[in-house]
Amino acid sequence: MSEPTTSPGAALSAEAVRSIETMYRAFTEKNPDLLDEAVTPDWRDIPLAPGQGPGPGGLKGLIPGFLKAFPDLKITIHEIVGSAGRAGVRAEITGTHEGEWFGVPPTGKAVRIPLHEFHHLKDGRITHTWHLEDWLGWLTQVGAWPAAEGRTMKATSILGHGAAPAVAEVPVPEPGPGQVLVRVAAASVNPLDLKLQGGQMRGFFDLEFPYIAGTDLAGTVERAGRAAGRWRRGDAVVARLDPIVGGALAEFAVVPADQLVAVPAGVRLDDAAGAPTAAGTAWQALFEVAGLGRGQAALIHGGAGGVGGFAIQLAKHAGARVVATASGTGIELARSLGADEVIDYKAEDFAARVSGVDVVLDTIGGDTQRRSFGVLRPGGMLVSTVAPPDEATAKAHGVAATFVFHRSDAGRLAKVVDQIAAGHLRVVVARRVPLADVGDAFEHQASAARGKIIVTMG
Ligand SMILES: NC(=O)c1ccc[n+]([C@@H]2O[C@H](COP(=O)([O-])OP(=O)(O)OC[C@H]3O[C@@H](n4cnc5c(N)ncnc54)[C@H](OP(=O)(O)O)[C@@H]3O)[C@@H](O)[C@H]2O)c1
Repeated sequence: MSEPTTSPGAALSAEAVRSIETMYRAFTEKNPDLLDEAVTPDWRDIPLAPGQGPGPGGLKGLIPGFLKAFPDLKITIHEIVGSAGRAGVRAEITGTHEGEWFGVPPTGKAVRIPLHEFHHLKDGRITHTWHLEDWLGWLTQVGAWPAAEGRTMKATSILGHGAAPAVAEVPVPEPGPGQVLVRVAAASVNPLDLKLQGGQMRGFFDLEFPYIAGTDLAGTVERAGRAAGRWRRGDAVVARLDPIVGGALAEFAVVPADQLVAVPAGVRLDDAAGAPTAAGTAWQALFEVAGLGRGQAALIHGGAGGVGGFAIQLAKHAGARVVATASGTGIELARSLGADEVIDYKAEDFAARVSGVDVVLDTIGGDTQRRSFGVLRPGGMLVSTVAPPDEATAKAHGVAATFVFHRSDAGRLAKVVDQIAAGHLRVVVARRVPLADVGDAFEHQASAARGKIIVTMG
C-alpha cells in the first residue's frame, strides 16, 4: 500500500488513520477478521446493502465475493483527509477479473477503478461508511459496457514483472494541479521499458501494477489542469515521464507542465517521440558529465543504437572527432550520422585501432567497457550508461570514469528539439508500429534495434 497523505492540519488521530488502513488491508490481505479492529461493533454501511447487517460481520461478507472475482485484489490508499470524527479516503482498486462479478463471466482483464469513501469515526474506529466505486468504469474495462466517448483509452498495461505488455482499456487519467493531459500521437520504446518490465530495475524504480509502460511521448495538449502555466489545447509537445509513473505508451498521458517542451512546426511528432530518453542521455553524458567540446575526440559505442546514434550527431555538431562502433547495416548508419570512422566490433578489436581519445561513451558495458579504458588519453573520461566503471581500473589508467543516470530535464530536451528543428539532429526510426502491435515493438527492442522504435496511437 502506498504512503497515504493526510491534509495539513488534519486532526485525524493516528488511531483513526490506522483503522482506515486496516479496513482496506482486510481486503488486500484476505483477512476479514482485521475488520474487528477497524470498525465499531455497530458499524453501518450507508445505506446497508441488502443482506448486509451492521458491525464487522456485515462487512466481512463482502470480502469472499470480492476475492472470488479478483483473487489478486489490491486497494491502494492515495489520500486520507479529515478531522477527528470524519474522514474522506481517495483510493484505487486494482485486480484481475478472474471470477463472475455483477453477472459478468471472468474476462482475465486487469482493472483499475477509483474508490472514494467517506467515514464517520468514534474513538478511532469507523462507525459509518458511505462509498462510491466506479463500477461503470470497471464494466467498460472488462469490455462488458460500451466506452463513453473520451472516458477510456487504450494503453500498454503490464500486470507484473515478466508479464507481456498488452493493450488494455483503462480510464483516461485526470490532470491534477500543475499537470497537463496530452493526447499522445506517438511514443518510443527504450531498453529501460524492457528492464522495468523484466524487474531488473527493482530498487531504483519499484513499480505498482498494473503499470502503464512508456516514458517518451509526443502529442498535443488536450486539457491543462489548474496552475499548468502557458499550455493550451492543441499545442504540440514532447516530454519524458518519470519511469516510476510511466504512461507514455497510451492514447492519453498526464504530464507535469514543467516537463513539457513545445515541438515547432516542421518537426514530426512521431520523430520527436524518439528523442527524450536516448538524446537526453547522450547530451547529459557527453556535455554535462564528460564536458566534450570542439577539437576533442570521442569513441562512441553502439553508434547505431538509440543513445549512440544521437551521440554521434551531437558530438559532431559540437565540433568533436567521432569514432563509433557498430556492426552489419549499423556501420553505414553510424557513418551516415556523421562518424569519422566506424569500427565493426564483430570483426575487429576497437582497442587495437583507437587511442588517445578524450571521451568514451560506453552504451554496452562488460568487456567493451573494460577494453575502453586503454583507448583514452591520460586524464580522459569514460562515461557509461550501462554499468558503474571500476574505479581502480580507471585510476590505473590515469583516467576518470563514471556511470551516468539519465535525469529528465525540460531545458535539455528543449535544446535537443531545437537541434532537430534546425536539421542538426536526425531521429533514426527503426520501425513505426501501431499501438495494437506494442508487443512486437518490445520484442524488436529486445533484439537490439538500430534506431528508435516508434509506437503510433492514431
Ligand atoms: N543510465 C541511463 O540513464 C541510461 C539511459 C539510456 C539508456 N541506457 C542504457 O544504455 C544502453 C543503450 O541504450 P540504447 O537505447 O542505445 O539501446 P539500443 O538502441 O537497443 O542499442 C542497440 C545497439 O547496440 C549495439 N551493440 C550491441 N552490442 C554491441 C557491441 N558489443 N559493441 C558496439 N555496439 C553494440 C547494436 O549495434 P549494431 O546494430 O550495429 O550491431 C545496436 O544498434 C541500454 O542498456 C540502456 O538501458 C541507460
